[in-house]
Amino acid sequence: MASTILVTGTDTGVGKTQVAVALVHALRAEGLRVGVMKPVASGCQRSAGGLRNDDAQALIEASGRDLPYAEVNPYAFEPPIAPHLAARAAGVAIDPAVLDAAYRRLAADCQVMVVEGAGGWRVPLSATLSFADWVSAHRWPVLLVVGLRLGCLNHAALSADAIAQRTPLLGWIANRLPPEQPEWAANVDTLQELLGAPPLACLAPADGAGSRLDPNVIKALLSRVQVAV
Ligand SMILES: Nc1ncnc2c1ncn2[C@@H]1O[C@H](COP(=O)(O)OP(=O)(O)OP(=O)(O)O)[C@@H](O)[C@H]1O
Ligand SMILES: [Mg+2]
Repeated sequence: MASTILVTGTDTGVGKTQVAVALVHALRAEGLRVGVMKPVASGCQRSAGGLRNDDAQALIEASGRDLPYAEVNPYAFEPPIAPHLAARAAGVAIDPAVLDAAYRRLAADCQVMVVEGAGGWRVPLSATLSFADWVSAHRWPVLLVVGLRLGCLNHAALSADAIAQRTPLLGWIANRLPPEQPEWAANVDTLQELLGAPPLACLAPADGAGSRLDPNVIKALLSRVQVAV
């Protein structure tokens, strides 16, 4: 069974996919067989094969494998709204057993699973389940992506506290989202104080080729996550 790294963020649009894709590439560069999941996605496009989500497709492409879409993204919704509202509008109840079954099938055939959250840590999936509940039930280690924008200090501190109460917080990544904040470096320093640890990486605004993660960062991550090689 695979080890799992759960990628969450301080908000929607902060770079979770950017980081998750970079992570998948870096793990593959270490010779690892990687599986991916974007369990719940709204804002999907219609296609001949059904609803498709850009994040799920980017993750599949990064994995370099022909992973079954329906297992990577078991819940896909068209309107770009909160997942529990999109599910309700579609007459669907998001069932953690369905997420678990898809996860198990993918995890059976890889060494590391990279799972991207929807929105932020506490996003509701239904009236009785949040994304945090599902992840915490498995005790998966979490990587927190902090998008360096105004408001991120509060979002990061709250997210890190909430994650650490329920499951291991592997670390955080500072993402210098465009448009770049003038005080980004001072914010990284403040985040380091608030979160009690330096960032595992600080991603520069990508030049179109995507972000890269240093192999040393990956080695540090792997030493904290038990990976059967
Ligand atoms: N370091 C970066 N450099 C340049 N562009 C970036 C960087 N990080 C993120 N972006 C861009 O910002 C946007 C949001 O990033 P991304 O899609 O990774 O966020 P997300 O947290 O996965 O969002 P969602 O909640 O929709 O899943 C994307 O257009 C992405 O290409
Ligand atoms: Mg995303």
